[in-house]
Amino acid sequence: MTRNGSKIDEAVAALKRHWQNGAPKDMRAAFASDLGRFSRYSLMLDDLLFDWSKCLVNDETMRLLKDLAVAADVEGRRAAMFSGVPINNSEGRAVLHVALRDTTSEKIMVDGEDVLPGVREVLSRMAAFSNGIRDGSIKGATGKQITDIVNIGIGGSDLGPVMATLALSPYHDGPRAHFVSNIDGAHIADTLGPLDPATTLIIVASKTFTTIETMTNAQTARKWIAEALGEAAVGAHFAAVSTALEKVAAFGIASDRVFGFWDWVGGRYSIWSAIGLPLMIAIGPQNFRRFLEGAHAMDVHFRDAPLDENLPVMLGLIGYWHRAISGYGSRAVIPYDQRLARLPAYLQQLDMESNGKSVTIDGGPVSGPTGPVVWGEPGTNGQHAFFQLLHQGTDVIPVEFIVAARGHEPHLVNQHEMLLANCLAQSQALMKGRTLEEAKAQLAAKGMEQAEIDRLAPHRVFSGNRPSLTIIHDLLDPFALGRLVALYEHRVFVEAQLFGINAFDQWGVELGKELATELLPVVSGEKSAEGRDASTQGLVAHLRKRR
Ligand code: F6P
Repeated sequence: MTRNGSKIDEAVAALKRHWQNGAPKDMRAAFASDLGRFSRYSLMLDDLLFDWSKCLVNDETMRLLKDLAVAADVEGRRAAMFSGVPINNSEGRAVLHVALRDTTSEKIMVDGEDVLPGVREVLSRMAAFSNGIRDGSIKGATGKQITDIVNIGIGGSDLGPVMATLALSPYHDGPRAHFVSNIDGAHIADTLGPLDPATTLIIVASKTFTTIETMTNAQTARKWIAEALGEAAVGAHFAAVSTALEKVAAFGIASDRVFGFWDWVGGRYSIWSAIGLPLMIAIGPQNFRRFLEGAHAMDVHFRDAPLDENLPVMLGLIGYWHRAISGYGSRAVIPYDQRLARLPAYLQQLDMESNGKSVTIDGGPVSGPTGPVVWGEPGTNGQHAFFQLLHQGTDVIPVEFIVAARGHEPHLVNQHEMLLANCLAQSQALMKGRTLEEAKAQLAAKGMEQAEIDRLAPHRVFSGNRPSLTIIHDLLDPFALGRLVALYEHRVFVEAQLFGINAFDQWGVELGKELATELLPVVSGEKSAEGRDASTQGLVAHLRKRR
């Protein structure tokens, strides 16, 4: 694809000039002088609120960011994605995770074929299988009901189901769900240890069905079942999710227990596909459908809303502003929601595997920074760990607060109010800070001696002026979770267009995989380490001695 280079360069240059001279420098002053700030720099989609008023932006910033979105043809690229154009140009693939949750369109064409009938057929097979496991009509080999499911997958074949199953635990009324991803044998040993093979279903989830971690763990699980129940029992205790149907057949899983998806679904965008099977078994097909509907609601909004009323576009523009113009190298995602504990890890893959690139979509070097480091933990726990640095450290790190207006524990209403108060307090503290005079006045009010005030006050100064975003939905239900995840997916897409990169390939993970395959016989002693760099040779020699 060809980008309108000179228009984009002009728009970026205008933003850089504006950051130096024109953008607000002082958030406190910006709020004091502008009572309409919150209403101008926030948007709602139904009950979903996105507030970016606590960022160093003004109307001119937003106008210039929109100019960049127009120059980068975000709308054209968005239309291309929704219509099945192969926008993943390094792999020659369409990018159609939106089709997986499209409950309303009549047709979506890829390579002359309507993909929706296949999507709907897999969904209905997943629902039949999930219902069978949930109601006990599909049993284990010994006739016992399945009480536990173990999903074996990694990356996109793990993080989505892990994140969403925890997020939706109030809706969990099916078998217990467990997840094994790490090649470290500790993971599978600790997971299978307490389980009964006779009541356990293993789901092997891998888009390619070649990923070494997943295939190794799957063999270990197969052995566990076969040793306990006999080789003939294996089929009744396995199911698979993959795009590589022949490889699944070779592993020995019967075709009625295999749920396919397609190469136009990226791994990190696959929770909506059959990769969501463990989630569906846990929460039931109806709730899974609500999860898809939430994502679809965001898709429709993203596809149709004008740029400046479009939540993912605004979230992407602010993300770009912080990363590429303000130069902030990371963003913290802090859900004030214990059930979203795995959301930061999920977003790490979504964002960093998508936008951690150094070449443009045309293969040239990028001219500025691309995706930031994404990290986070739930609040309030983070407050008692790393918030010190967020408030007083030498790096500015924009924070993204996510919270629900209501919790699922109405009898613990006070706890939810405390959670909300903490969330709002943190964004306020980041914005307002505390001046030296305020710190001194506070200490004086405690009756402290002047010398002691002068000594202690500098430690109690908060620069403030630190940007944050706040996202609030009413309740973390399946619909709201689907909508939230789709919001972040589209935000990553928008930022990729502004960076000029392909968000849908992941060549950066290949080299390590290749070297690990090469090093396995070296580590196990079958091959010599000779010819490798001195560090690798030294490490191998050390390990050989110590094992
Ligand atoms: O690590 C790279 C990656 O290809 C991810 O993009 C993907 O989600 C993960 O590995 C797992 O791949 P698969 O589903 O093919 O096992």
